Parts: sequence; C-alpha cells; structure tokens
Amino acid sequence: MPQPLPIQFLSLDLDALAGATGRIAVLAEPDQPTSAGFRKLDRLTRGALARAVASEAFGKLKPGEAMELAWPAGLQAEAVQILRLPKRADVAQARKAGAAVGKAHGTGATLVLAEGHARAADIAFGLALRAYEFDTHKTGEKKPRGPVTVAVTNPEAVARAAAPMAAVAEGVFFTRDLVNEPANVLTTSDFAARLAGMHELGLQVEILEEDELRRLGMGALLGVGQGSESPSKVVVMQWNGGGDEAPFALIGKGVVFDTGGISIKPAAGMEDMTMDMGGAGVVAGVMRTLALRKAKANVVGLVGLVENMPDGRAQRPGDVVRSMKGDTIEVINTDAEGRLVLADVLWYAQERFKPSGMINLATLTGAIIIALGHENAGVFSNNDELCAAFLSAAKAEGEGAWRMPMGDAYDAKLKSRIADMMNVGGRDGGAITAAQFLARFVKPDVPWCHLDIAGTALLKSDSTLAPKGATGWGVMALDRLIRDRFER
Ligand code: BES
Ligand code: MN
Ligand code: ZN
Repeated sequence: MPQPLPIQFLSLDLDALAGATGRIAVLAEPDQPTSAGFRKLDRLTRGALARAVASEAFGKLKPGEAMELAWPAGLQAEAVQILRLPKRADVAQARKAGAAVGKAHGTGATLVLAEGHARAADIAFGLALRAYEFDTHKTGEKKPRGPVTVAVTNPEAVARAAAPMAAVAEGVFFTRDLVNEPANVLTTSDFAARLAGMHELGLQVEILEEDELRRLGMGALLGVGQGSESPSKVVVMQWNGGGDEAPFALIGKGVVFDTGGISIKPAAGMEDMTMDMGGAGVVAGVMRTLALRKAKANVVGLVGLVENMPDGRAQRPGDVVRSMKGDTIEVINTDAEGRLVLADVLWYAQERFKPSGMINLATLTGAIIIALGHENAGVFSNNDELCAAFLSAAKAEGEGAWRMPMGDAYDAKLKSRIADMMNVGGRDGGAITAAQFLARFVKPDVPWCHLDIAGTALLKSDSTLAPKGATGWGVMALDRLIRDRFER
C-alpha cells in the first residue's frame, strides 16, 4: 500500500546548492526579504530568480501557488520551483505551497528551501499529502520516488512539529487506499483483515461475524448484506490512550459495493459505488492516526461492512426488518441501505460503550451532492456544542463542512403503514430525511453528528491536497476534533 514519502529535515548547506540534482523549491514573496538560499540560487542563476519574482506573472500568483524555471543555467538542478508564500502565511497557504512541490515530485530528488519559515512543517505536510499516488494495480516498472529534503533553520524543532502530521498523513493515505480499492479486492473480509492488521499499532480490533450479529439482533444490517457472497461484518477498533472516561465513538458506513440491490442502480456510473465504504474508510484512517501518534484519548471506531447485491436471497422492496433497537423498518427501496447498516451499528455502539458522544460518517445520499456539491460535507446534529466543535475543527483543517437542518416535519416523512418506519422519506430533502432516519437510532442524551460525505469522499478532478480519486476528507478534521476536545 502507498506510504507517505519520508521527509528529512536538515540545515541548509549553501555550498551544495549549485550541485544539487533533481528539483529545488524555494519560497519568495514580492517586497519581503529573501532567504539566504534564495539569494544563493539567484546569484548562481545570474538573477533569474529575482527577475521571476519581480515579474507580473509572479505578482498574480496567489499565496501557495508556484512558478517554475526549467533547466536553469548555473545549476545542476532540472527545475527551480518558486513558491509564493508570505512570511506570515496561514496553515492552508503553507500546505498549498507544499502541495505544489508534492505534485511535481517524481523519481528524482527534491530539495525544499524553507529556512526561517514558521510553517515549514505544514509545507512538508502538504507536500506529503499531494504526492499520494494509487498505483497498486498498474503493472510495469515502478521506479521509487526520489528523496525529499526540507532545509530549515532548526531541524530538530521542525521534525518534532512534523511527527504528528506524518501520523495524520499516514491515516489519510490509509483512508484513500481503502476508498480507491476496487470491490473485487476490498471485500468485506479483506477490509476486516486490513483493520485487524492495525493490532500491530496497539489498537484492540474485534471482528463480529454474521452469527454474532444475528444474536445481537442486527436485522437491519444483515438484511442489506444477505444477497452477497461476502459475509457481513462489524469491526470494532478501540484506542484507549486516555484515562478511565467513556470513549468517544466514530461509526462508519462500509458498503464495499452498492449496486442498489433489487432496487438496482443504473449502469452508468455504478463503478463509483466502490467508494460506498468511504465512511468506514475515514473511521479506519482516524483510528490509524490516533494509534500512530499515541493520542491521549479514548476513542472507539465501529464500522459496518456489507455488500449490497441483487440475488435470489437478496432483500426485496417491501420487506420488513427488525433492527437491534427493536424498531421495525419497511424497506421501500433497497438502495437506501446505508442507513439500515448505520442504524444497527449506532445502536450497538451506544449499548456497549455508553460513549460520551458519537460521530458517524457515510456516503449516504446523492441528495447531499445536489445540495452542497463536492465542496462541503453535510453535517447533521442533535447537539449545537458538538456540532460547532466539529465545524471549527473542519475549518481549521480546510475541510469543507456545512450544517444542515433537521426537524420533526422531516421525520414525519418516514411514517410507514405497516412498520415503525420506512427507510426512505421521498425525493425532497432526501439527505435530511436520511439523517432523520439515523436520529431515530440515537439516544436522546447522546451528543451526535452525522456527516454525509457522498460528495467529498471521492473527486473526479485534482484538489489542492490530493490527486483525483479518494480524498481522505474528514481524517484531518476528526483528528483535530479529538486533539482539541480530549487532549488538552
Ligand atoms: N451510496 C448511495 C449514495 C451515494 C450516491 C453515494 C452518489 C455517493 C455518490 C446510497 O446508498 C444511495 O443509493 N442513496 C439513495 C437513497 C435513495 C434511494 C433514497 C440516493 O441517494 O439516491
Ligand atoms: Mn444505495
Ligand atoms: Zn450506498
């Protein structure tokens, strides 16, 4: 599986610049003093860098954007990338500048001159995130990526600041790999095995198999998976780095492939439903990060792993299933399966762990994409305080999130003639009625957020910190939330 690039932090050796091969990146901001590294490169290139920075084109760059000088005379390097970055850049600008370097980084070496910049660690973080590549299934010769060195004034201090960020990058990569993986590879069993592998990091991982789920009464979850050859599973991952307080729970929808079931989806675009385990992927990535950085918090991650297939044994529209909570559900549309999976996992999480709060993530509805596009995930909550804390963590990490309304009038759309509720509430406000369905499985005193990540888990074009494909949206925000809420 792709791992983040190892990044070395060193002091700058000015005398080595002329002979450095590969790529060099250097920071500049018009009308601000330049660094010693910049001035050395400028002398070696007979003023090419200073002319570039003084140019109109450079003046039009936004902070974090880059200009490239190819095969500069006077240097061995094949390119110098000049990153526009003011001295007082914010986190997002610094990560964006790093991402420009990470995007261009190939099989050669890259040297980033970041001496004296306060956000050097964030530059490295952005670089690592953007250098992600999912090439597991490409055959042919794979040349290893070149080494990356970031020259800084105080290497020990920057390396210390960068260590927890490297743990976050690894969590993000874990999530992206899971989401990018096709469904013939990432079956429910393969997914569970990958999670079990995190035992090595000090996580307690349990896999609940179908007979156990049946004993627990998880009829809603089991109904979704009953048409698949892959067995349904619930995986529980515990990280107990805190004291003896109740854990915070993260719950993920892990539909490894969503055909829609008997309410089958149209063929066009169905291949994208390999990402329908995105919620579970984010939960897994966060748990990995927490373990890697030995977070001082108690967090439990629970994922419901199922495959939604049409088959002779598959659930039918009109079937009535009984959830672990005891409420019965009329399955009007077998394609509204994520909420059925989450209903039982949410209930199990509360019964077993009595969590201090919980956040679930799911690629739950197409309707959230209609509402918010791909820029923001939908946030639904029964608790203003937890919701505000999540939104501020997401904002700090540059992950788009927008609160959506809830209310009794939406809940009323779920009324069923023959059971306690239907699994769909009609087309109008479809993301909201889905959230109302979940809310029925949340105990009134448990602070809860539901994040509908259908629009943000996977993108068709490159974003600032990721190539097209899986983004890992949410890992950074949730890690930040846990840090801010439990670790200080
Ligand atoms: N997994 C889909 C939602 C989805 C759509 C995720 C597009 C990512 C991209 C979900 O299970 C689903 O099929 N939802 C239905 C619900 C409807 C039947 C009420 C939808 O959104 O159409
Ligand atoms: Mn579906
Ligand atoms: Zn789905």
